[in-house]
Amino acid sequence: MDKLVIEGGFPLKGEVEISGAKNAALPILAATLLTDERCVIKNAPSLRDVSTMLKILRSLGVKVQMQNSRIVVTPSGYNKCVAPYKLVSTMRASICVLGSLVAKKGYAEVSIPGGCVIGPRPIDLHLKGIKSLGANIQIKAGYIIAQGKKLKGCHIYLGGPFGSSVLATANVMMAATLSKGVTIIENAACEPEIVDLIDFLTKMGAKIKGRNSHILEIEGVKRLGGAEHTLIPDRIEVGTYILASAITRGQVSIKGARLEHLGVLIDKLKEMGLTIANDDGIISVKITKPLKPINVTTLAYPGFPTDMQAQMMALMSVTEGISAVTEKIYPERFMHVSELGRMGAEIMLEGPTAIIKGVRQLSGASVMASDLRASAALVLAGLVAKGRTDISRVYHLDRGYEKIEEKLSRLGAKIWREKE
Ligand code: EPU
Repeated sequence: MDKLVIEGGFPLKGEVEISGAKNAALPILAATLLTDERCVIKNAPSLRDVSTMLKILRSLGVKVQMQNSRIVVTPSGYNKCVAPYKLVSTMRASICVLGSLVAKKGYAEVSIPGGCVIGPRPIDLHLKGIKSLGANIQIKAGYIIAQGKKLKGCHIYLGGPFGSSVLATANVMMAATLSKGVTIIENAACEPEIVDLIDFLTKMGAKIKGRNSHILEIEGVKRLGGAEHTLIPDRIEVGTYILASAITRGQVSIKGARLEHLGVLIDKLKEMGLTIANDDGIISVKITKPLKPINVTTLAYPGFPTDMQAQMMALMSVTEGISAVTEKIYPERFMHVSELGRMGAEIMLEGPTAIIKGVRQLSGASVMASDLRASAALVLAGLVAKGRTDISRVYHLDRGYEKIEEKLSRLGAKIWREKE
């Protein structure tokens, strides 16, 4: 197994280019199962989660080729409908093949995604949505078995105790595109990745109204065709590099970002005192005065993204004063707290809220990555800590950050990979 080693204390400087969004790529790849025709996905990031999704497509009988950042998917005549445990257990997002498989083939068998370190991740909304479209759902031997030759449009409220669900919205919307009649999804997620999926489905011939809103209206069509699509940039990767610049008191320019996807993060960083400029699509980050502590609450889009919470906490750990983070999407997503503590951070947990007392200096330590975003937080902490930080279980990072050590090294970080 690999680990990352970081020698901290070097301000980052220079330009970094952002990759395509992982969380847009995964449902869009699943959507190719809705057609028999060739689809081309551009700006695809080379990540472990993307290759897991490609393996799932191949296991269904779909032809897939990835070269550089271009994926060509040829689904014609794929004939299997089972997403096996072996693959689903390595990536929860595999569940998003459920909607497209049942809509196209009338049958889907998808392993139930297992436990997750960021807390409970139920799938009731996925099942409620697919059932409302008329599919028969059974749970057998750890698999969801969905059958429905003739799905029919419906009116569904898709909210849970924590609000809208990104992948449940994706699943139900995909199934609705080939259902007879009109489907209305109330409390739909409107994350930029959902909008990207809507844009892709529309290119395939789907009829969807309500883009960028919480109410989607989908008029089913008989068939969908192939499409070519360029994925949006990864807003969480952008946010992570903005924070890498801020935490090292550096000056990084970020190329290929879409500032309009980052409203609340930019707002919060300006409240802290960061200067963020957008010049012709290049975001530049500068610090000219001491940062101020802030409070952040994670919420569904356009609220503060839960996927930026851990990285934000790393920055708060070295910001003088008391900051707070309240997690309202995954109230147990705090695995990074104790690892940041090993590096000298002072963080107290009270239910879903973390109170962070900024310290002058973190110190390098051996720490363990527990999930993708927690790992990113440890990298940020390692970049500013005094001395050497060893981050084990780095495979979590490889799920979601393309060439992270290469990109950071080019910005002047001392970071490298070693065998454990
Ligand atoms: N929820 C339910 N029932 C469901 C589904 C979700 O109650 O059937 C709850 C969840 O427990 C959570 C809330 O709804 O409290 C929102 O979860 P959501 O379904 O939106 O999460 P997801 O779609 O499974 C995606 C991202 C996650 C990201 C969340 C929230 C992908 C592939 N994953 O997951 O990304 O944290 O939305 O924005 O799009 C990551 O990239 O590191 C990551 C975990």
